Amino acid sequence: MRTLLYTGKGGVGKTSLASATALASAKLEHRTIAISTDGAHSLGDALLVPLGPDPVEIKPNLYGQEVDVLREMELHWKEVYGYLSALLASQGVEEITAREAVVFPGMELITALLLLQRYQREGNWDVVVMDTAPTADTLRLLSFPDVLQWYFDHFLKLQRHVLKVARPTVGRMMRTPLPSDRFFDTLEDLYTRFKDVRKLLSDSAHTSVRLVVNPQRMVINETRRAYTYLNLFDIPVEMVVVNRVLPPSARGDFLERERREQQVNLQAIQESFGELPQRQVPYYPEEVLGEEKLLRLSHDVFGDSDPTTIFARSRPIRFFARGDRRYVRLELPFAERETLDVSARGDTLFVKVGWYKRSLTLPVAYASLPVARATFENGVLLVEFEPEPAAEGSRAHP
Ligand SMILES: Nc1ncnc2c1ncn2[C@@H]1O[C@H](COP(=O)(O)OP(=O)(O)OP(=O)(O)O)[C@@H](O)[C@H]1O
Ligand SMILES: [Mg+2]
Repeated sequence: MRTLLYTGKGGVGKTSLASATALASAKLEHRTIAISTDGAHSLGDALLVPLGPDPVEIKPNLYGQEVDVLREMELHWKEVYGYLSALLASQGVEEITAREAVVFPGMELITALLLLQRYQREGNWDVVVMDTAPTADTLRLLSFPDVLQWYFDHFLKLQRHVLKVARPTVGRMMRTPLPSDRFFDTLEDLYTRFKDVRKLLSDSAHTSVRLVVNPQRMVINETRRAYTYLNLFDIPVEMVVVNRVLPPSARGDFLERERREQQVNLQAIQESFGELPQRQVPYYPEEVLGEEKLLRLSHDVFGDSDPTTIFARSRPIRFFARGDRRYVRLELPFAERETLDVSARGDTLFVKVGWYKRSLTLPVAYASLPVARATFENGVLLVEFEPEPAAEGSRAHP
């Protein structure tokens, strides 16, 4: 099963690209499903077909589905959902509000990941195209499997054990409900499934994230952060699609000015994602709705090649730590070693190797650490950061 995940800032064209890709994939007779993980579903609007929480057949080899978190939770996470809403209700949150409050922002993505894992197991699809909500912080939820694993290893096993002993006495005295054994069973099941999701997400032979940007400064900045976090969580980013590029035929003072600005920003895209394959899509004079226009979009992006092809499989950026030092490893195979210049300012790493210029947003854990040294050998740049200064007052008390 091939999974393609389109992500990017609000309004850049994720839904259009996801539906275009799905349509073109179905046309090549891949059994394809497009899944919307954006609570404000618009996948059906782009395809001009009403979709729902279950797969809907759109045309031969093409299905569409819009994830409904509440429904999925009721169906598959019943115990967790029930317990959390009871817990909130016991703290004075109105019952009906509590049921909604359990669904935190970005949960659609998590729900969709579990769906993905199910589809992978069942094996009925060749291609899954995911249309996600705007990046911002929801992307960090891709680390959810890791976080859940941590909780499970450090906390939940212990908690379950303690509760087994304490429930008969404590349960009667407190107003706060205690989680049942079934709650822990559900969590354990989720944990196992998330371990599969984790593997699936990092498997560049099957999964790719495609970043959608517009040639605009703010869009680029947000997408750089997304790219950094995807790299940090070892999720393969395969391509950057630059949407809404003004064609040279766009005339008039106003458009000329915008086009000049776009040229500057296209250069910034090059500096931000230079190692990724890049595709450009023109700014069309109308919305991209319905099969015909979507297929034209797909053709403008992929030409005659299969849009489900893995266009790049390498991992050009890695963040890692050794001892108290943090490192960034960047593969820059085309750069020539002349004067190497590396510096960090705030959360940005600036790199110059000969003619090659690159700037990269650093993860929060790196921000404001000075660069200790940088080496460039065999096309690989390794940047080492100074260790974090020891926090004031962190010395142990005698
Ligand atoms: N290249 C383009 N030229 C003209 N219009 C476009 C282009 N790409 C997308 N659009 C239009 O822009 C609007 C927003 O696109 P789309 O819904 O695909 O963005 P999105 O990234 O999914 O937005 P959201 O973040 O809200 O989910 C739609 O009306 C779409 O038809
Ligand atoms: Mg959308």
